[in-house]
Amino acid sequence: MSLTPRIDGDRLLGRLDAFARIGATPAGGVNRQAFSVEDRRARRLLAELALERGFTVFQDGIANLFIRREGTDATLPPFLIGSHLDSQPTGGRFDGALGTLSAFEVLEALEDARAETRMPVEVVAWANEEGSRFAPGVMGSMAFTGADTAAWKSIVGADGALLAAELEATITALPEAALRPTGMPISGYVELHIEQGPSLEKEQLPIGVVTAVQGTRWLEVSIQGTSGHAGTTDLAYRRDPMVAAIAAIHRLQTTIMPLDSSARLTVGRIAARPGSINAIPQSVAFTVDIRHPRAEQLNVIEAEVRQVCAAEAEAQHCTAVIKRSFDMPGAAFSPDMVNTVEEAARSLQLQYKQMISGAFHDALFLARVAPAAMIFVPCRDGLSHNEAEYVEPGDAVIGAHVLLRTAIMAASPR
Ligand code: GLV
Ligand code: MN
Ligand code: MN
Repeated sequence: MSLTPRIDGDRLLGRLDAFARIGATPAGGVNRQAFSVEDRRARRLLAELALERGFTVFQDGIANLFIRREGTDATLPPFLIGSHLDSQPTGGRFDGALGTLSAFEVLEALEDARAETRMPVEVVAWANEEGSRFAPGVMGSMAFTGADTAAWKSIVGADGALLAAELEATITALPEAALRPTGMPISGYVELHIEQGPSLEKEQLPIGVVTAVQGTRWLEVSIQGTSGHAGTTDLAYRRDPMVAAIAAIHRLQTTIMPLDSSARLTVGRIAARPGSINAIPQSVAFTVDIRHPRAEQLNVIEAEVRQVCAAEAEAQHCTAVIKRSFDMPGAAFSPDMVNTVEEAARSLQLQYKQMISGAFHDALFLARVAPAAMIFVPCRDGLSHNEAEYVEPGDAVIGAHVLLRTAIMAASPR
């Protein structure tokens, strides 16, 4: 006889604590970057918990990790729930971990209750969602949904590590997880995540039902000048790429966002070569992260970045080379799956609002191959990609309840 599946809030919160210890930073966050030793430890812990419960564990060629619970109809593709376990270098405890561990809690709740679903339900921890160590991000879901990954073999990480070697080491560190091909038909996908912005907390809403994700574009700018002596080189003879880079960044930051409240532009990484205190740099490289809900605006902003960088480089007798390293158009989620999430929230008497995600997520790529949606819960002060990221325990558990209800409805359609 089956019981009504129930989320065990204490079990979920205990798991969040246990995973936060893997790669814990002194300031209370996590550093568990993709394919690192810490990332491997987190994957191992999740796989061990899954095997203890009798679930089957798989991984694919990009190190996506899957935990499967069978359904009653073996002809149906699985319904996927999950998120990611990798983090930013100074990341929070909840970005990715909340969705992954809540998805595992859902699987355990179904198992505890001996509940049947028509479709198999699989928990997935997508590989390298963050893209901070190895750009681009959302590698796992891109590969899973058919992206051409041939060029990824030669990617070198921000720390100089080779992606191919770190990926291989990550996969071989988990021999218990059988390898299966990357990509397969799925019935649908739902991801629980923290909002990473302030609106739910401000409006005192426990749930956001995500209807779309805005687009992201990443640029790599390199400004080339001439290295020279700091003490002897007269202003007239300088070709200083640092001056050009700073002028370009300042111009972009004082125009793009102030003139368009929907636009986002971030320079998160900058490096001078050779990086010597008493040498004019030979080159300065920086990244530009652009976001906008309207696809055509990404083109407009990219054109502006190119024009400003070229002009400021020229003003210093330098040259600018700009490469687009990541282009992720926004996407709308399936109205049916969004309805299912809303129905789940309503059935739990929870207030919610529909919203667009400012952050990118693996769900964006899954939405291309199956009905997908996302559930957001509030986080304190909207803070994320920050070690101080915090979610009220009760809010985390509410999110898991909505995920469970959604999964039960979606995996056993009437
Ligand atoms: C995800 O980590 C993002 O940068 O939006
Ligand atoms: Mn995330
Ligand atoms: Mn993130």
